[in-house]
Amino acid sequence: MKDVKIIATGFAVPEHVVTNDDLSKILDTSDEWIVKRTGIKRRHISQNENTSDLATRVAKTLLSQSNVRTQDIDLIVVATMTPDNMTPATAAIVQGRIAAEKAVCFDISAACSGFSYAISLARSMMLTNNWRHAIVIGAEVLSKLLDWTDRSTAVLFGDGAGGVLLSQSNATHLLGQSLKTYGNKGDQLIAGHLDVSYDILKNKKKLSAFTMNGQEIYRFATHEVPRSILKACSNAQIELDQINYFLLHQANSRIITQVAKKLNQPLSKFGVNIDEYGNTAAASEAILLAEIIQKNRIKPGEIIALSGFGGGLTTATLIIKY
Ligand code: ACO
Repeated sequence: MKDVKIIATGFAVPEHVVTNDDLSKILDTSDEWIVKRTGIKRRHISQNENTSDLATRVAKTLLSQSNVRTQDIDLIVVATMTPDNMTPATAAIVQGRIAAEKAVCFDISAACSGFSYAISLARSMMLTNNWRHAIVIGAEVLSKLLDWTDRSTAVLFGDGAGGVLLSQSNATHLLGQSLKTYGNKGDQLIAGHLDVSYDILKNKKKLSAFTMNGQEIYRFATHEVPRSILKACSNAQIELDQINYFLLHQANSRIITQVAKKLNQPLSKFGVNIDEYGNTAAASEAILLAEIIQKNRIKPGEIIALSGFGGGLTTATLIIKY
């Protein structure tokens, strides 16, 4: 085996849609502000499905789209910052539900870069162990972590999951990559902090909601994402112009426009679906990839830059020949 290849893609989102107008009834905000500052028009919010439920829907879609048998799956990785539990891992729950008995399963936490990190990791494990098939999913129910009274974060996020089925290939598909972590900036975006409680009688176990320095993250993304893409291209020994599609984490349409401008690439090469789903963290690149492939917009042999950025802080770009 020389490399691994994407043989199926899929996504799942909750049915319930919350529009900007819906939010303006509970928060001091407006459709105009949200669309102008972020590009988001609506988001899908879970009413009863947890992260593992969405991830299981994706895993079933991936299997139904391929000839791979469930018992032949060697690995399941779920990237998430909103797992159902600290343990068991979301990936283990998925494994139990689809009965992929052979699969090694675990979750990874790299926030909005998680899907790219997970593909990179799954590929390495497949190559090292000579594994044939892996399911990689990005899944989030961010709504359970949000403070619905905080307009500066509540309007930005949505719930969803997406994923890929990777299989062995004799051709090269991952042409190059660049993964980076900026731990010294980690406090710019924190969610789900769990305090140590010295006073056991307080019985305090609540996770903290999102806190984010939006402007700092915006600056970070518009500065570091172009660098990450350029570094990945250089590692892949290809020119920027050879990339057919740029599929960026969907955090803000203004970030996407800015990155296109900095790279001097036409905006038409950049996939955008933030209007429909909001920021779905680790799921966003996976949902976008699945939607674009479903629409037959990416043809075999074309080159995709899959680029995530976010909590950690982290960046991750994969240059993939589809
Ligand atoms: N509705 C109306 N007004 C609002 C809202 C809202 N929802 N939120 C903030 N405002 C107000 C502010 O209070 C402020 O008012 P003031 O001028 O009276 O003080 C004004 O709007 C401007 O606020 P800013 O925070 O300066 O707005 P900005 O243009 O920076 O946009 C945003 C904010 C959209 C968050 C932007 O900074 C951004 O997208 N940053 C990047 C965030 C990001 O990418 N996060 C993803 C990482 S995700 C991950 O890893 C999980």
